[in-house]
Amino acid sequence: MRVTVFGCGYVGLVTGACLSELGHVVECIDIDADKVATLQSGTVPFFEPGIDALLQNKNLSFSTKATAPDLCIIAVGTPLAENGSADLSQVFAVTDLISVMEKPPKAIVMKSTVPPGTTAKIAARTGLETISNPEFLRQGSAVQDFMQPDRLVIGASSKRGFALMEQLYAPLNLPAERIVNTSTNSAELTKYAANVFLTTKLAFVNELALYCETVGADIDEVTKGIGLDTRIGNQFLQAGPGIGGSCFPKDIRALAFQSKALNHHLEIVQAVIASNDTHQNAMLQKIVNMCGGSVSGKRVAIFGVTFKAETDDLRNSVSTVIIPALQNLGAKITATDPMGMENGKTCFNGVEWKKDPYLAVESADVVVVLTEWELFRKIDLARLAEAMKAAKLVDLRNIYTGDQARGAGFEYDSIGRAGSIKG
Ligand code: UGA
Repeated sequence: MRVTVFGCGYVGLVTGACLSELGHVVECIDIDADKVATLQSGTVPFFEPGIDALLQNKNLSFSTKATAPDLCIIAVGTPLAENGSADLSQVFAVTDLISVMEKPPKAIVMKSTVPPGTTAKIAARTGLETISNPEFLRQGSAVQDFMQPDRLVIGASSKRGFALMEQLYAPLNLPAERIVNTSTNSAELTKYAANVFLTTKLAFVNELALYCETVGADIDEVTKGIGLDTRIGNQFLQAGPGIGGSCFPKDIRALAFQSKALNHHLEIVQAVIASNDTHQNAMLQKIVNMCGGSVSGKRVAIFGVTFKAETDDLRNSVSTVIIPALQNLGAKITATDPMGMENGKTCFNGVEWKKDPYLAVESADVVVVLTEWELFRKIDLARLAEAMKAAKLVDLRNIYTGDQARGAGFEYDSIGRAGSIKG
């Protein structure tokens, strides 16, 4: 099939590159001419494991203008508007481009995350077959998620629509039970439901972690205990500093906004948003407590600014809350991150950057782990403690054990474990 993907962000690029790998002829379109030129030269403008190699595919091209494909896939951003709704302006701009194409495509496929009802609106606006096919790609493992998906969710309103999608994904050889064929509204809501459910799971674990501190329990053991119940499952139970990323915080707010506009209050959704904000404040308090009640004039070394490991993305990362808050309280910040330093430099003011974690802690009063990079797990804690002004460690990803950290000479705090200082 000839496919045009609109949007060369990580969803559009991974989708386009993977579809070309499946044998389709794909052009990826972006209005950013510099980005297109970078991609044409074979360079990926962000870090995503496995994507570079796919760019060599002869069936894949990049342009600022679309030609005449069979399918148009929309994979542009749907950021949060100021009022908390999903900003669909990029989606509608692309839709308008598609509707004036000389040879209209057989169908439009909506990959971007959009509120229920949007795909139907686009169908009405363009008069074209419009299919909802939400993406479930995690940054850091997006190529694998595309090639070996847990499921495909397809929302269409005609047999022809489902048949086109069957043709598109046939090379994945997915068993029928992993394909959910449904309406466009259900497909759109499935995407929100998945992200909001996962966010709810994490917010609950983070709340539980702080409750462990109150009752003297251990979150890692409690989550192990509940995770062995197959109805709960052992994934997505790692307590952390709070939920970040380009998707979860945006999607939960967009769903909250839509439900409010429809006068249908979703209580759990509201509670999860509030819980995550409270949790991030508790994390800040942990750092302050470790510094004896004030960070004013103290140097805080931050290990990890990206919203999780294996990405260079800082969008809605907890670091974007914690670092400015520490600075407001008078702290000086040194930060290190294996992949996030370039983006970090444009994101924060007044931060000193060090490539080497051992140099980052020099003259620091406390080191705070915000991202669970493998590099930090493997660090020589005794050497780190020695390099610091004061050997204090706040591990907000629980990547070390208390024995390891205290054994290396650290005063140590983590989340929801024995000896944790209440956040
Ligand atoms: C998320 C979903 O996992 C994907 O399925 C979805 O397709 C994607 O959003 C999207 O909507 O495009 P992603 O944002 O890449 O993917 O990140 P996750 O790996 O889900 O992590 C989100 C946040 O949860 C991060 O801040 C991470 O550190 C945190 N997290 C995750 C934890 O604190 N503990 C965990 O056990 C897992």
